[in-house]
Amino acid sequence: METRNLIGGHWCLAQDNRTFPVHDAATGEVLAQVPDCDVADARDAIDAASAALDGWRSRHAPEREAILRSIAARLRERKREFAQIITAENGKPLDESAGEVEYSADYFDSAADEAIRLGTEVIRSRRADRSLRAIPEPIGVVAAITPWNFPLAMIARKTAPALAVGCTQVVKPAESTPLTALAFARLLIEIDLPPGVVNIITGAPDAIGSTWLSDGRVRKLSFTGSTAVGRHLMRSAADQVVRLSLELGGHAPFVVFADADVSAAIAGALTGKFRVSGQTCVCPNRFIVEAPVYDEFVAGLASLASELRVGCGRDEGVRIGPLIDDRAIERVRSQITDAVAKGASIVTGGKSVAVAGCLDRFFAPTILANATREMLCFQEETFGPVAPVARFTGEAEAIEFANATPFGLAGYVYSRDEERIERMVRSMNCGIVGTNTGIISDAYAPFGGRGWSGFGREGGRWGLEEYTSWKYVCSAVTT
Ligand code: SIN
Repeated sequence: METRNLIGGHWCLAQDNRTFPVHDAATGEVLAQVPDCDVADARDAIDAASAALDGWRSRHAPEREAILRSIAARLRERKREFAQIITAENGKPLDESAGEVEYSADYFDSAADEAIRLGTEVIRSRRADRSLRAIPEPIGVVAAITPWNFPLAMIARKTAPALAVGCTQVVKPAESTPLTALAFARLLIEIDLPPGVVNIITGAPDAIGSTWLSDGRVRKLSFTGSTAVGRHLMRSAADQVVRLSLELGGHAPFVVFADADVSAAIAGALTGKFRVSGQTCVCPNRFIVEAPVYDEFVAGLASLASELRVGCGRDEGVRIGPLIDDRAIERVRSQITDAVAKGASIVTGGKSVAVAGCLDRFFAPTILANATREMLCFQEETFGPVAPVARFTGEAEAIEFANATPFGLAGYVYSRDEERIERMVRSMNCGIVGTNTGIISDAYAPFGGRGWSGFGREGGRWGLEEYTSWKYVCSAVTT
């Protein structure tokens, strides 16, 4: 297992040799010590990325495409090994971790497809005395700060487009899941990525983030994480006018109309809600179900949720792993207590689950009936395995309910009426809509939100756009 940082093609410790421990998410066992980097290390990473920039940006697109494809292929070959590391430090079930490795490889393939499509565009002008073109150029050195819920995929979707366009990168993974990032660094060395093109350092987010944002050489930061941190980064990015992509919190509505296939809606709710134990930004957070099918939906979802096996992600058949830390457990508990005090009833779950030899971080999948907007769970992101279900009547109320939040990442709608689906798609104020499906993530599509969920898109050609600075050239035409 790799435990050192990668800067300029070299494996490094922190300059002052400090380290911090990485724990097994289920058992709490210390898996490794990794460098606790600070300002000086963060600067070294920028130096290395700056030194590599000219060489990387001047490579021909097909060369960059080939490198991206080999990263994708190597990730697929080593799926099992990466999945084990992800499960150890994040806690999610092994199958989900393997799915995350595939998802990550897709980002590299998608960026490889786009790398060779990106090129100079000729612009038509009404004037005969000039010819116009737009040249896509890499922004320069870019930074990525990534979360713990998808320790590999969130790096993949920032690194793949950056490399495709010709940017060089500095990356800081979450403190709880750095080992996946360092394994990925090892893979980059194995495929002979030129030194300095990607530099990965672990450590204190404040010192590293503020060094990168104040340096002036870092021209873009892509961050996935909480809205509170996103706001702080926006303020810090102002001085050097650093471009940002922010994928922040979500609060997704999951709307089920009475004319829906209710069994399909229940199945979609189950997969969408309980992926990574409810710790995804896009997972349904507010279930809004039309009155005639409300009881059927609640009973069906509760019955399937109560059968999901809770336990260590390494164990066969486990669907719900641990939550990431004690604060996550506290938030889940306090939302449930608040909901019950305001009239909700617990149909299943509502309590911790003891798992032999493991930390007290496991929570039973929970369905809350009779949820209302006054409850915390209808106002804040839960990031845990809790599904509160409220009732509505009629399309106007569904739209109003769904949009009653400043967040706008994902939304879901179930109905058999295609015209209604289209009206809902247009009315829902969010960046991503799933229609008759609970799983929407796809490396070839533009992932991102609006409002308090942030801005910028990741995936497909939209992902590359975020790392591109278009140069417009206007040339005189002489006849
Ligand atoms: C996230 O939770 O931030 C990402 C979810 C996904 O890509 O599916």
